[in-house]
Amino acid sequence: MSQRYIAPSILSANFLELGKDIEMINKSEAHWIHYDVMDGVFVPNISFGLPILKQISSIAKKPLDVHLMIANPDPYILPFKEAGAFNITVHYETCPHLNRTINFIKEQGLMASVCLNPHTPVELLEEILPEVDMVLLMSVNPGFGGQSFIQSTYAKISRLREMIDKKNLSTLIEVDGGVNFETGKKLFDAGANVLVSGSFIFHSSNPEKKIADLLSI
Ligand code: DX5
Ligand code: ZN
Repeated sequence: MSQRYIAPSILSANFLELGKDIEMINKSEAHWIHYDVMDGVFVPNISFGLPILKQISSIAKKPLDVHLMIANPDPYILPFKEAGAFNITVHYETCPHLNRTINFIKEQGLMASVCLNPHTPVELLEEILPEVDMVLLMSVNPGFGGQSFIQSTYAKISRLREMIDKKNLSTLIEVDGGVNFETGKKLFDAGANVLVSGSFIFHSSNPEKKIADLLSI
């Protein structure tokens, strides 16, 4: 079986008691903490930025997986590294010089990933694929937690898995949006490696168990 990771998205955490939710993730079987940065320009919502990531990184025992949904990510790569990021994901749609951006992230010693919106075909990654550590496929339109899963994502994962295997690469495939038991199982089966999940985990009475269950599907 290929590598399987769970990355709870703290966009759905209880911000009044964020420390408790981070402690829950620390104790859980989750591998990473997914951190959604939104600027109100590239996506129609504003979330959180550098100071909160810095505080989280002071207590987090899991690597911080930073998803930048921002219009101009380049000037923010170093600040996010300094705030504690382990992976930085930029959107294909926001990077006119993606090769430069990805290589700059890697030069900082970070994991470097690219994300595609639901309408962006994986075939556009042909040239950049050998350069990236991970591809994040959005299975909802980015901007909000709790949206319903876009079904065409399964076929998209299979096509990307084929491209990765054909080139003999070890690039990870992460999926973000509408992940639950039902979609999660099919996503792993289609070739995904990392499942991001927000509302399914945090809007439950036992988030730690939901994480363990997602991993064992
Ligand atoms: C959406 C974010 C997601 C979000 C997923 O723009 O990138 O990470 O938190 O939330 P759920 O799992 O509730 O769809
Ligand atoms: Zn995300």
